[in-house]
Amino acid sequence: MNGTTVVEFFLLGFSQFPVLQGLVFWLCLLIYLIVLLGNSFLIVITIVDSRLHTPMYFFLRNLSFLDICYTSSSIPQILVIFISKRKSISFIGCALQMFMSLGLGSTECILLAMMAYDRFVAISSPLQYPVIMNKVVYMQMASWSWILGCLNSLVQTSLVMILPFCGNHTIDHLTCEILAVLKLVCADISLNVKIMTLACVILLIVPVLLIFISYIFILSTILRMKSAEGRLKAFSTCSAHLTVVILFYGSALFTYMKPKSKDTQTLDELIGLSYGVVNPMLNPIIYSLRNKEVKEAMRNVLSRNLFLWRR
Ligand SMILES: *[C@@H]1O[C@H](CO)[C@@H](O)[C@H](O)[C@H]1NC(C)=O
Repeated sequence: MNGTTVVEFFLLGFSQFPVLQGLVFWLCLLIYLIVLLGNSFLIVITIVDSRLHTPMYFFLRNLSFLDICYTSSSIPQILVIFISKRKSISFIGCALQMFMSLGLGSTECILLAMMAYDRFVAISSPLQYPVIMNKVVYMQMASWSWILGCLNSLVQTSLVMILPFCGNHTIDHLTCEILAVLKLVCADISLNVKIMTLACVILLIVPVLLIFISYIFILSTILRMKSAEGRLKAFSTCSAHLTVVILFYGSALFTYMKPKSKDTQTLDELIGLSYGVVNPMLNPIIYSLRNKEVKEAMRNVLSRNLFLWRR
């Protein structure tokens, strides 16, 4: 039984509900297309419009890029699994997918905290802001998010994939999600659990605390502002970020911190799926619809192109 070399895994997402499977397939496809379109649009807009060449939009562009990568690391594979008869994935493919999803997810955690810090500096010391948030600093902040996120994922993924797997290679999930794969391991997983808990604390709880603290400072600064107009402007740039943060960490905390039970498996899977696809779809919508600068940039680009086209 133990020590069998695994060539491939089988995935078992929603297979007990064939009707649900068809619905989820089309929903996933639709949302994936919206994610690609919306985020690419935000990336293009923030590059084309020179007024959006600020640290905040740099981070936003990075977040959009991250969301595209993140959804692309799982949705295409989920779609293939849905339509194929033989619902399997190779060992390497599984490891790669686990590494990508976990790495990009952790990167997003850190990046959102960096963005909160950016807003904190912008609002608490607006005059020094361009000096503190210079190009070197914000590039490095983004790079560190990517480096730490991928490093975390590399450690976690290798620690799981070197373990021996039992005879049953069926993953009870839509993707090679780390917790689902860990259930198939035929060895002591206490070290993995310890390291994963540590990573959860560092990558989820610490950013949440940092974001919480910076928002307390931001709120107190906003409330101390004299002009109602300034207050409104400061609030509108932060509320979009706050919405994204609540959605992202809410679902991440739900997925990784809640005790699992057998009865809520389908519900958990649905929530896990929405964490993977709905949040990346909402980011560009939240940021562009709530944001006057983005809306203006959008209008400019559209009218300029229309103008060229008429000529
Ligand atoms: C995101 O940030 C990294 C690190 O600074 C950078 O190399 C990359 O080009 C950025 N991506 C986008 C789309 O801005």
